[in-house]
Amino acid sequence: MEITMVMVMSADGFVTHGEDGPSFAWASAEDREAFLSIVRASDAVITGRNSFEGKGDMPRPYYVLTTQENLPSFKNVFYVSGDAESIVSRIAADGHEKVVLLGGPKTNLIFVKDGLVDRLLLTVEPKLFGEGKPLIIGAKLDISMKLCSVKRLNENGTLLLEYELMN
Ligand SMILES: NC(=O)c1ccc[n+]([C@@H]2O[C@H](COP(=O)([O-])OP(=O)(O)OC[C@H]3O[C@@H](n4cnc5c(N)ncnc54)[C@H](OP(=O)(O)O)[C@@H]3O)[C@@H](O)[C@H]2O)c1
Repeated sequence: MEITMVMVMSADGFVTHGEDGPSFAWASAEDREAFLSIVRASDAVITGRNSFEGKGDMPRPYYVLTTQENLPSFKNVFYVSGDAESIVSRIAADGHEKVVLLGGPKTNLIFVKDGLVDRLLLTVEPKLFGEGKPLIIGAKLDISMKLCSVKRLNENGTLLLEYELMN
């Protein structure tokens, strides 16, 4: 099973514009298009409960991390908890090969920290936010990556960077 983390951030390194809120409020249409085609090509999605907030039925399996019980039931939504390794084992046992990790920063941490993320597809928008949440939050890390490709998505210079994590 391969796990690809997919995120969009400002040029000063924030994945939220100050306060919490969906990235489609500020990310480019070209990022949105790239994001949707990456997710459509995946077998399953991992995301945190905060990032899933406001969504409902899903067209593919979504594994939503939460410690809460009695959250609403939706088609293709599986609430999961525990350590990253056991969540990944469950997703692999369900038969999924290409999995995308869609954040947010707290959820990214537990998979990256345990060396379970293979690739990062990171869109960098030519914007400065000054405040917001970082890509990963909650612990000091020292993970090296290798840049595999750079794609310019539009005139303004939105970049899609593909990295391999050297776990
Ligand atoms: N720019 C981007 O590409 C991008 C992508 C995704 C999200 N975001 C933004 O990031 C913000 C949310 O990020 P976030 O870090 O606050 O939240 P998050 O990672 O989406 O969700 C955190 C929640 O996930 C659950 N969780 C995390 N680890 C867990 C574990 N090991 N076991 C069980 N549950 C676990 C907990 O839910 P419970 O509290 O229910 O226990 C926790 O409160 C939003 O503003 C969103 O728009 C940006």
